[in-house]
Amino acid sequence: MDVKDAILSRRTIFKFKPEPVPNDVIEQVFSFGIWAPNHHVTEPWRFTVIGEETKLTLADRYREIKIEDTPDHVDAENLAKIGELAYEKFMSKPTIIAVSCLQEGDEQRMREDYAAACCAVQNVQLAAWDAGVGMQWSTGRITMEEQTYQLLGIDSSQEYIIGFFYTGYPADISEPKRQPAGEFIRWVA
Ligand SMILES: Cc1cc2nc3c(=O)[nH]c(=O)nc-3n(C[C@H](O)[C@H](O)[C@H](O)COP(=O)(O)O)c2cc1C
Repeated sequence: MDVKDAILSRRTIFKFKPEPVPNDVIEQVFSFGIWAPNHHVTEPWRFTVIGEETKLTLADRYREIKIEDTPDHVDAENLAKIGELAYEKFMSKPTIIAVSCLQEGDEQRMREDYAAACCAVQNVQLAAWDAGVGMQWSTGRITMEEQTYQLLGIDSSQEYIIGFFYTGYPADISEPKRQPAGEFIRWVA
C-alpha cells in the first residue's frame, strides 16, 4: 500500500473478527515503530503484548470499572448486565498491546520522548493497516491503574502507559470525519 493511501484510509477499528493476529505479524508491524523520529535517539517506546491469562484478569477488572462508573440509580440486575457486556467487549479485542514510554530526564526530554512514542505508534498503525490489521488506541481507566502496571510487569516509576492498542482483523470500518486541511493552516508573511 502506498503511504498516502495508508494515511488516508486507516481508521480506528472498534469491531474485530474473532481470530487473533499471529505473533509474527505483530512483531513485523511493531518493527516499523522503532523507526519513528526520536530526538537524541532515546528509544523510549516499550511494547507489551498481553497474553490470554492476563487478558482474562484485565477483563474482570474492566467489568468492575464499568460497574463502578455506572450511576447509582441503576438496579442490580441491569448493573450485572452492563458488567457482562463490558467483560464481553474487552474479551472481543483479539490481541491487546500496551504501549508505554520511558519516564526519564527533565520535562523537555519527557515531552520529546512522548512525542516520539506517539510517532512510533502511528508508524505501527499504518504498517498494521497495510497488513490488513486494524487498531484502536484506548486511554480508558484500565490503562492508568497501578494494578494494571503490576499485572503487566511495568514499573510505574520508570514508564507510563500511553495506551492499550486493541488489535485485530477489522469486522467494520467507520466513515472518516475531518474538516478540510485548509481550516488548520495559517500562512504567515
Ligand atoms: C491519544 C489518543 C487516545 C485515544 N483514546 C481513545 C479511547 O480511549 N477510546 C476510543 O474509543 N478512541 C480513542 N482514540 C481514538 C480516536 O477516538 C480516533 O482516532 C478518532 O475517533 C478518529 O478516528 P480515526 O482514527 O478513524 O481517524 C484515541 C486516539 C488518540 C490519538
